[in-house]
Amino acid sequence: MASNNGNKGGLTLDDAFSAIAWRDDKLVLLDQRLLPGRESYLELTTVSDTARAIADMVVRGAPAIGISAAYGAVLSLQQRLQAGKDWQQGFARDMAMLEQSRPTAINLRWAIQRMMALVQRSLAQGLNGSALVQAAVAEARSMHEDDIAANRKMAELGAALIDPCSGVLTHCNTGGLATGGIGTALGVIRMAHALGRLSRIFASETRPWLQGARLTAWELQKAHIDAQLIVEGASAALMRDGAIDWVIVGADRIAANGDVANKIGTYAHAVSAHHHKVRFMVVAPLSTIDWKTASGADIPIEQRASSEITRYQDKAVAPQGFRAWNPAFDVTPAALISAIVTEAGVVKHPDAKRMRDVLQKSPQ
Ligand code: MRU
Repeated sequence: MASNNGNKGGLTLDDAFSAIAWRDDKLVLLDQRLLPGRESYLELTTVSDTARAIADMVVRGAPAIGISAAYGAVLSLQQRLQAGKDWQQGFARDMAMLEQSRPTAINLRWAIQRMMALVQRSLAQGLNGSALVQAAVAEARSMHEDDIAANRKMAELGAALIDPCSGVLTHCNTGGLATGGIGTALGVIRMAHALGRLSRIFASETRPWLQGARLTAWELQKAHIDAQLIVEGASAALMRDGAIDWVIVGADRIAANGDVANKIGTYAHAVSAHHHKVRFMVVAPLSTIDWKTASGADIPIEQRASSEITRYQDKAVAPQGFRAWNPAFDVTPAALISAIVTEAGVVKHPDAKRMRDVLQKSPQ
């Protein structure tokens, strides 16, 4: 199983949990719906259970969804090869079904395409049966390990942009629960904290699913990092009071021109940051960049059930039958972004040309 070991140069950023693991031919996921109250793991043996776990947010966060989908592809191969006849058509159907589980995070499609390409390559090399499954496990593990390394690199590049005594605000959850490693935005915050550069850390609660309150606060507390929660509505006041130097967020999909789809509320933080001259950093691996999508206007935005807003757990918080508009993500235009940090480099003041110049030099 890949570990979250982030020890280098004397800094230890180990996590005491693994949100995703491949063990005994099963996909093991920490059930994020139950946090922070309960640390409980689900063992998945089928691709349809994997698709359901992604749709129901047992596992969430763009890179974590991608890694889980890669292991889900292995589960499909195990099942389909056992069934024998027409297994390739069955595998293709499973991959199409898995890709439907959440529409915005491009890492899902990226991972599935990589696993489908691996299967084609392996067949061309004459691999079959258990050798093919082993090749698929190795590919999924290597995607998992690459994400751990990318997290580490982004943490270093992002932390280097932050001056001593800074205040930071993050949104949603972008740490070890949302990735294979120490995280994207939260990885930068953890690195900057370890380097002694942060005086104030704030996390917004992230209505309606409360990724900030339930998950980011849980991760920060586990890492013994002092931080405070705010409601989203407090962010402009916090910036006006001079408490924030950087807003640091992750991404679910970045268009070719640098527009960023991320958790609903990210755009509001970006508008406030722009108004208050606070810098805005987006941290995401190359697997989150969708070069085929020209701008944020073309990114599909997932709509989720009204009940996520009108109810909290088993309690109604709005009158019976009242409707809600519940997009899971919004798009922040590149013009509001100071820097996009990837493992291949930092794109300052992103636009289509700078994105290409900085990132397309590296292998995609
Ligand atoms: O709906 P979620 O919880 O999957 O949304 C997650 C986010 O928006 C994260 O900010 C994004 O995936 C980046 S995670 C490293």
